[in-house]
Amino acid sequence: MAQPFEEISPRPLKPGLLELDGISRASIEAHYKLYQGYVAKRNEILGKLGSVELASANQVYSDVRALKVDLTFAIGGIKNHEVYFEHLGGDGGEPDGAARDLIVRHFGSVGDWRSDLKASGMAARGWAWTAYDWDERRLFNYVGDAQNTFPVWNATPLVALDVYEHAYFLDYQTDRSSYIDAFFANLDWSVVNGWIEAYAIRP
Ligand SMILES: [Fe+2]
Repeated sequence: MAQPFEEISPRPLKPGLLELDGISRASIEAHYKLYQGYVAKRNEILGKLGSVELASANQVYSDVRALKVDLTFAIGGIKNHEVYFEHLGGDGGEPDGAARDLIVRHFGSVGDWRSDLKASGMAARGWAWTAYDWDERRLFNYVGDAQNTFPVWNATPLVALDVYEHAYFLDYQTDRSSYIDAFFANLDWSVVNGWIEAYAIRP
């Protein structure tokens, strides 16, 4: 029997994202199209799972396997980009409030956090995230090689640094380091602080 699901729509692109410092309008517009693609594929995959043949499930290859593996890629692509687009458009600089308190407590200083996240981004093939692990009750910078690797259970991303080449090749060619600096310069800490408050994360 088909599992019910609701189709979702892409969140609209904030106009301010077309006027970032060091990340061009063309780059953001192309990037947003990729995000729309993840949403479309999420809807398509869930639709197909509604009629997939469960009896032929097989770990080597089967329709249910292919759909469920790629569903995590599509949903990861949605969630990662929704964090990314939402918290860009600010003036970067030093975090304040709860974001600052959390970062200082768990990394020692804002500079140490930034260095660690940048190194994580340089070491990743897809993403680097600052996330709050609810079991350890602390922040950690995680590395991801794709939309669906390697988040951990029960952690909430608060900063999502996209280091796929599509995020920066148009503006920086292979100079990922300069792109990461531009990413930091456009972070909106008020958005991050809003999430910390909404999720009731206590420094
Ligand atoms: Fe991306």
